[in-house]
Amino acid sequence: MAALRILAFLASLALCSGQNSDCSYLTLLDHLNLSSSQIMLTAMRPVKDWRTNTTVKIDLLLYGILQVDEKSQTLTSHISLEMSWINEFLMWEPEQFCGISTLQIPASMLWIPDISMKEDASDTSSISSSPLLAVSSDGWVKKVARQRLISTCKLSLNLFPFDTQRCNFTFNSYTADDHSLTLDGSRNNSALTMISAHIMVTKGEWALRHLDVTVVSLNISENHENIVRYTVTIRRKPLLYVVNLIVPLLYLLVLDVASFFIHASKGEKLSFKITVLLSISVLLLILQDMLPSTEDILPYIATYFVAVFALVGISVLESMLVLFVMDMEAYCSSKFCKPVEAEVEIQLHDHESEDKVQVEQQKGASQADAPGGRQLLKQILQEVKVVRQMAANQEQKPSHCSLAVLIDSVFFVFYLFTIIVFLTYMYINWIYLAFA
Ligand SMILES: *[C@@H]1O[C@H](CO)[C@@H](O)[C@H](O)[C@H]1NC(C)=O
Ligand SMILES: *[C@@H]1O[C@H](CO)[C@@H](O)[C@H](O)[C@H]1NC(C)=O
Repeated sequence: MAALRILAFLASLALCSGQNSDCSYLTLLDHLNLSSSQIMLTAMRPVKDWRTNTTVKIDLLLYGILQVDEKSQTLTSHISLEMSWINEFLMWEPEQFCGISTLQIPASMLWIPDISMKEDASDTSSISSSPLLAVSSDGWVKKVARQRLISTCKLSLNLFPFDTQRCNFTFNSYTADDHSLTLDGSRNNSALTMISAHIMVTKGEWALRHLDVTVVSLNISENHENIVRYTVTIRRKPLLYVVNLIVPLLYLLVLDVASFFIHASKGEKLSFKITVLLSISVLLLILQDMLPSTEDILPYIATYFVAVFALVGISVLESMLVLFVMDMEAYCSSKFCKPVEAEVEIQLHDHESEDKVQVEQQKGASQADAPGGRQLLKQILQEVKVVRQMAANQEQKPSHCSLAVLIDSVFFVFYLFTIIVFLTYMYINWIYLAFA
């Protein structure tokens, strides 16, 4: 009834303003038998012969990609959907009606095909559909709706964050079969992509690659079902993830490699490595927030993180082992082995210093004739010798621990080799393939 009231208003408007009654919308509405409520136009598919097929053209334009939710596997987008079809009863000659070539009439007055989207998971309130239909003189009826669409889309996160997602928007009719309704896209793929790329406002972290349309005829039991499938291909912009996650992790790995050059005998090396391990676990926590646990295959980024964590963990274990071996050797050498080389060196130093002492004694004799001074010098010399010996003993110990050094060196070579092989593997499988 609201529709009729709008019509009456339209008609009165037309009557008041139009001098020539032929120029009013009312005449046209009368001519089309729309001025009285007509069940014929709303109830049935608008064809004169029932065997005539109605073609519905579906035109989808993408205004924005609002969100891609990895956890719930949905794509939120902003779309405009345009459907058009021919109503055989609504045709007129524009010349007869002062050149009126299009007419907007309430949607409730005409038959509308029951087309829906299979992937649509949004609530109906997010659709803003025009209350009017546009009818043109050749019988084409056009319905336009805009929608904040939440559609289901199976996301593959294997290559995250270098991933490309393909999401389908599949349109079909709830009830009609192939004989009565044919669906069709209204533009070709390149035009679609171009227009959408041009009108797209929000893309978030995604870049639109393609928007393709395919028309498929499915055979479900005896019925042929006709569907139109729009496929949107989007690629993630990976820069932020590279800067925030991948590069810092690589940096931590490099730091861990560099820590092999810290002197092992001090506990610093071990605590440094443990700090690196802790930093990696913080990054792991961030990653866990990002990726869903729904994946069947481990995404490459998770492999990368876990492998780096394991490598650093192993290197922490190794430096513990080296420290242990060093302690054992120190213990062993203080108990059983004599630090031979150190003694030889000290003796050498001894001679040197004795020579020096002699020189100094001669000098001292010429300068001051104090026997107490000579005694004092000798005492000091003894003290210095003892201190030197102690210091030498302490310094020589690590170079004695040949087993620890050997373990450390061999491990370092293996470690470096493993890291290089691993990083190459990651690069080829993950980054190179993603951009190939
Ligand atoms: C409108 O209805 C009349 C009779 O009810 C019919 O003769 C005429 O053809 C109809 N006009 C259109 C455009 O269908
Ligand atoms: C989209 O449709 C194609 C063709 O049926 C199918 O192979 C593909 O898996 C679908 N994509 C998604 C994300 O469902």
